[in-house]
This record gives sequence, C-alpha cells and structure tokens, in this order.
Amino acid sequence: MSKIYAVANQKGGVGKTTTAVNLAASLGYFEEKVLLIDFDPQGNATTGSGIDKQEVEWSGVDVLLGDVSLVEAIQEMDGSGYDLLAANGDLTAAEVELFNVEDRLHRLTSILETADKKYSYILIDCPPTLNILTLNAFVAADGVIVPLQCEYYALEGLTSLMDTMDRVRETQNPALQLQGIVRTMYDSRNNLAVEVSEQLLSHFGERVYETVVPRNVKLAEAPSYGRPIIYYAPSSRGAYAYVDLAAEILERAEKEKRDEGNAL
Ligand SMILES: Nc1ncnc2c1ncn2[C@@H]1O[C@H](COP(=O)(O)OP(=O)(O)O)[C@@H](O)[C@H]1O
Ligand SMILES: [Mg+2]
Repeated sequence: MSKIYAVANQKGGVGKTTTAVNLAASLGYFEEKVLLIDFDPQGNATTGSGIDKQEVEWSGVDVLLGDVSLVEAIQEMDGSGYDLLAANGDLTAAEVELFNVEDRLHRLTSILETADKKYSYILIDCPPTLNILTLNAFVAADGVIVPLQCEYYALEGLTSLMDTMDRVRETQNPALQLQGIVRTMYDSRNNLAVEVSEQLLSHFGERVYETVVPRNVKLAEAPSYGRPIIYYAPSSRGAYAYVDLAAEILERAEKEKRDEGNAL
C-alpha cells in the first residue's frame, strides 16, 4: 500500500514546494517508487522538476474530473527519482469545475487507489490555500508534512492548520495524521528562529523532525535548472538535509508499520 503525504501549510513561501520536490527525489534515491503530485496552480513543483508548465496537457484537475486516467496524465521522468502529475493554470478553475461533481472531496482518494501498487510514496504539493484541491489531498492522505519557517507568526498559522486537520479527521478521514513538522530555511544564528524552534518542540515534541533544513542558496538555485538538489548540488548542505529528512520519514513509516503489526 502506498503512503500518501500532503505537503501543506496555508502560508506561502515557507518551503512546501522545495520540500515536496526534494523529498520526492530523496525518497527515490532510497529506491522507493515515488509519485509527486503538483496541486498548486503556480506549478512551481512542475517547473522545479524541469517540465515547462505551458506544455502540460493534463493536470490534476483533469484527472479529478475523470477526463483522463491518472496513468495517462502522469509523466515518467528519467533520472529524477520520481514520476510527476504536473500542474498548469487549469488548476485555478478546480473549485468551479468540481462544484457539481458528486463526492467531490473524495475524488483523489478513489483515483489514487488505482495507483496503489505502483508507488510506495505519493507526495502532494498543496497550494497555500484551503481550497478543494487541498481538501482532496487531506481526505486522501495518511499524513500531512508541514514545512515551517521559524519566524514570528509561524505558530499561529500552525494552529489554524491543525484545526483544519481536526475537521477533516472528524468528517472525512479519521486516519489523517500529522506526519511531521519540518523546520525550513533555518538559521541557528537567528535568535528568534531558535526561540520559535524551542516553542515548536515543546508543543509538538517528536512530531517535529530532527532534521533541520538550513537556509542554503543551492536549494534556491536548483529549481531554475529544473533539478532536485541531490542532482544539482549533491554535496551541498541542502542536499544532505533532504536525504536525512527522507531517511527520517522512512524510519517513521517503518515504525508505524511495526506498531500496526503489533496491534493486530
Ligand atoms: N532551505 C532553503 N534555503 C534557501 N532558499 C529556500 C529554502 N527553501 C526554500 N527556499 C526558497 O524560498 C522560496 C519559497 O520556497 P517554496 O518552496 O517555493 O515555498 P512554498 O511552496 O511554501 O511557497 C523559493 O524561492 C525557494 O527556492
Ligand atoms: Mg509552492
């Protein structure tokens, strides 16, 4: 069974796309079969994967509407370590297009069941809004990975994200978990960042990944070359961080599997 993780935070510019792309590539590096879904109309995960979004014929919204099968819409990418369901501007219309579709919050859940055997991990790069696409992702997901920049209002935003997850858990997907929170663009010389990080650890404990992603210029450069960091700058601090994060997530998933086994 594939593990499905939504990469989400309703704040923009916190490192969602950077995390989704580089985690997908790093899980691929560990020989997992990975699908990355770009659910943000801005299509940054698509561009960052080296695909021109002007040339994307089928996006997630076409798949959700049933106009094309998931298999047909997916782009297999050599040498990136993952396959991609790319985005284009059509995703902007998702809200309107899906308005009259029956069971519209569960479209992605049923579609991903068709890919269950092919992929061990499915990552969904969510937009910075709580729209129909984000909700489809939360309803389909086993867990949410939250990239967080340790700055002043970060924790406040997190509370409302947790409320949304609670609501989805109560009404649509009881299995939804907070997979983990990853500190991004971290600068340990910044006192505020250190303080927010400490508060985060005291609130969320081991739900905060041990791996910290530092601010690293190579991570910011890689998307313009359309390459994940492990291929663009394999010996950069950014590359090491995302490989470590992938290892930590794999470990966590293994532990969950063992715990489930013990509970049976
Ligand atoms: N660890 C990092 N170090 C340096 N720049 C980063 C890092 N993470 C993200 N960035 C840059 O910050 C900007 C916002 O990141 P992005 O992943 O696109 O955020 P989001 O998807 O949450 O909007 C991008 O220009 C990205 O290249
Ligand atoms: Mg993004």
